[in-house]
This record gives sequence, structure tokens and C-alpha cells, in this order.
Amino acid sequence: MKICMIGTGYVGLVSGVCFSDLGNDVICVDKDLNKIEKLKKGIIPIYEPGLEELSKKNYIAGKLKFSTNISDSVSKSDIVFICVGTPTKKNSNAADLGQIFNVVKNIRKSISKFKIIITKSTVPVTTGDKIEKILLKKKPKKLFSVVSNPEFLREGEAIRDFYYPDRIVIGTENNNTNKILKNLYSPLISKGAKYFNTSRKAAELIKYASNAFLATKITFINEIANLCEKIGINAEDISIGMGLDERIGSRFLRPGPAYGGSCFPKDTKAIINTAAKFNTSLSLIKNVVKSNQKRTVILLKRISKILNHKFKNKKICFLGVTFKANTDDMRETSSLKMISFLSKKGSKINYFDPTGKKNEFNKLKNVFCSKDIKTALIKADLVIIHTEWNDFKSLNFKLLIKKKNFIIYDMRNLYSPIKMKKDKIKYFGIGK
Ligand SMILES: NC(=O)c1ccc[n+]([C@@H]2O[C@H](COP(=O)([O-])OP(=O)(O)OC[C@H]3O[C@@H](n4cnc5c(N)ncnc54)[C@H](O)[C@@H]3O)[C@@H](O)[C@H]2O)c1
Repeated sequence: MKICMIGTGYVGLVSGVCFSDLGNDVICVDKDLNKIEKLKKGIIPIYEPGLEELSKKNYIAGKLKFSTNISDSVSKSDIVFICVGTPTKKNSNAADLGQIFNVVKNIRKSISKFKIIITKSTVPVTTGDKIEKILLKKKPKKLFSVVSNPEFLREGEAIRDFYYPDRIVIGTENNNTNKILKNLYSPLISKGAKYFNTSRKAAELIKYASNAFLATKITFINEIANLCEKIGINAEDISIGMGLDERIGSRFLRPGPAYGGSCFPKDTKAIINTAAKFNTSLSLIKNVVKSNQKRTVILLKRISKILNHKFKNKKICFLGVTFKANTDDMRETSSLKMISFLSKKGSKINYFDPTGKKNEFNKLKNVFCSKDIKTALIKADLVIIHTEWNDFKSLNFKLLIKKKNFIIYDMRNLYSPIKMKKDKIKYFGIGK
């Protein structure tokens, strides 16, 4: 099939590359010329394991193209996926749909034969109706079908998630469109992916409800971990004990820092905003958002206690700054608030992240990016394990830190407190 992906970010690029790998002709479009130029040269602007090889292979084979020209790309395609950003509006909980509507107006100019126009971006309920209205202003209904096909891939696992998704959700009431999309996804369905056709509005809500549920699960175990710390129980035992119940499941049930990333924070807010529009209060999700905002404050208080409330000139090493492993995405990661707070208090921060230096810290005083783990650790008073990269899972801290009495605060519970005690290392975990 001839496909156009508009927005070549984490979602559009991965999906575009993988659709081309399945044998489709794909054009990935972005307004960012620099990004498109890099992609044409085989340089992948994001960190996503396996993406570079797959992109190069299909680009060379001519199945995958990159362009900044929306009109030309849309007119050459039968299926158009919209994959642009839907960030939170300033001073509001609502999703900003500016990028979506802008793209739709551009697509409208290039519709001269039937096209399926799909939102893969996460969009609030009724966005599909609004898109349809915009298109109808200039084009007849028979020339397009607007569908919601929310994306569930996880950064860092995105290629695997594309090929082996738990489910493919298609929101359309048009049988012919549904048939075409079922055919597009048939290579994945034949490998076991469940295909679920529903109404467009239901598909839009499924995405938000799923993300809000996962954010709730993380927040739930983070609060239970707070209780465990007070009672003196290991929260990991609670996670295991609860997770063994198949109705609950063990995933997203490990305590740690506040949830972050480009999806959960904005999507929990947006679903609250949608509910308010329909005169409904999602009180549970509202409290999840509040609890998650408080989470960073709680962890910073713990750091303060660990340091005996003395921050000035303390050398603090952050291992990992992204919101999770295997991504370079810094959006809404809890390290932003933590490092900013600690730097203002006069601490000296050295961080190491496998995806390199982060511009987000450029304006902060005394925050340095180290080129490797060894340099980041060497003079640390306190080591904060912030992100669960494999690189941080079996370090010999005694050998690496050239200092006595250093402390480790392991926010991902990667190490055994018993082993740490044996090695005479002062160690704190989460919910322990
Ligand atoms: N990142 C994830 O893990 C993930 C997972 C599932 C769903 N989503 C959703 O998918 C959507 C995209 O997320 P993302 O993380 O890929 O965003 P992103 O910011 O990485 O990428 C968006 C891209 O769209 C481009 N763009 C914006 N306006 C454009 C225009 N008018 N024409 C052409 N290109 C344009 C931007 O330049 C950018 O490259 C969001 O709604 C997000 O909530 C993201």
C-alpha cells in the first residue's frame, strides 16, 4: 500500500520504517528540514534500538522515502497517518491540537482521490469529528474516511512493539475502510496481534483510558512504597505478592520515581479535561496526577534526609536522566526537577546517561555531563540511580568511587540491600 506518515518523531518514524519493512511504499514527512536531511543520510535523530539498520535497509531498497513536502507526499498516498505532537496547552490541562489541525488543512489541499486519513497521534474524543468537519469544508465526503488508530508502542521497545503489539485498535464505522486497514495490518494479525474494530470515539478514548490506567498503577505502587518505608517492609515483596495475581499482573508495579515521558503526564491531564467537558469528574485520575507531582517532592525530601540536609558542595552523581531506559526522551522526566533543585541548593551534579549530554541542563549551575560512568562516579558523595539502564545494573561501586563513605540512593531497586550491607556501603532503595 502507499502510505504517508506525517510527523517523523518517535511514533511516525518507527511506524513508517516498520510499515516499509512490511513491503509498503512509505513516505515519512516532517516540517523539520534538518531532521529529514539527517534521515536521508541514514542518521536517526532519536535513540531507538534497531531503528537505524531497519531505516537504512528500506531506504536503500526504495521502500522508504523522506520528505518535507506534505502536499506531494499526500497526493502520492492512499493512507495518511497523522503522527504529530499533541502536547498540553499552556496553562491548561487540554491537549493542544494545533499541530493536528494544521496538518489536516494541508492534507485537504491534496485530496483529489479517495484517502484514508488516520490519527495515530493521541487525540481527545471527538477530534476525528472535528477533522472530518475541516475536510468537509472543501472536499466531498466520498473522498476520505477519517479513522482513529491509536499507537501503543513504548519508546526503547518500539520496533518489537510494532511487530508484536498486544492489540491493534481501529476506530471506524466504515466497513470498507476497516477491510483495507485489516489487510494493512494482516502480517501482524497473522503473528498473533489482536485486531479490534470499534467506533472512532471509542478508539480515541481507549488510548487515554489505557495510559491513565497504567499511570494509576505506577502511582498506586509508589504510594504503597511510601507506606512500606514507614512500616519497615520491602515494597518489592508487595509487588511480587500482588503481581502473582493474574487479575493484577506484575508489570508497572515496581516503585520508583514519578512517572514521566511524553505520554502519561499529558494524557492523564487531557482525559481529565475531556471528562470536564462532558460534566464528569475523574476524581481518581485527578488524584493520580496530584500524587505523581508530589512524588518528586517526596524523593527530594528523602535525598535531603540522606544528606543530613546539607546540600552545599555535595558531589551528587546521577546515573541516567531520561524517564526510562533505552530512550533519549527527556520530556517530563523527574530528573529535570531533581537536578534543578539540587543545583540551586549548591550541590555539584555529575550525570551520565548512555544517550549523552542533555541540553535541558545547559542553563543550570554546577551540572556536568560525564563521558562515562567511571568519571561520573569517581568523587561522588551521593550516587542516585535514576534510570534503569542495563549499564548500571552490575557496577563495583567500591572500586569505582575513590572516596570513603559514599552513599547510594537506588531509585530503581537495582541492587540488593543485603549485598550492599555486606560490602559496607551505605545504601537506600525505594520502599525499603
Ligand atoms: N512517544 C511515544 O512513546 C508515543 C507512544 C504512543 C503515542 N504517542 C503519541 O503520538 C504523537 C506523536 O508523539 P511523538 O513522541 O512521536 O512526537 P514527536 O514530538 O517525537 O514527533 C512529532 C513530529 O511531528 C513533526 N511535525 C509537527 N508539525 C508538523 C507539520 N505541520 N508537518 C509535518 N511534521 C510536523 C515534528 O517536527 C516532530 O518531528 C503524540 O500524540 C503522542 O502522544 C507517542
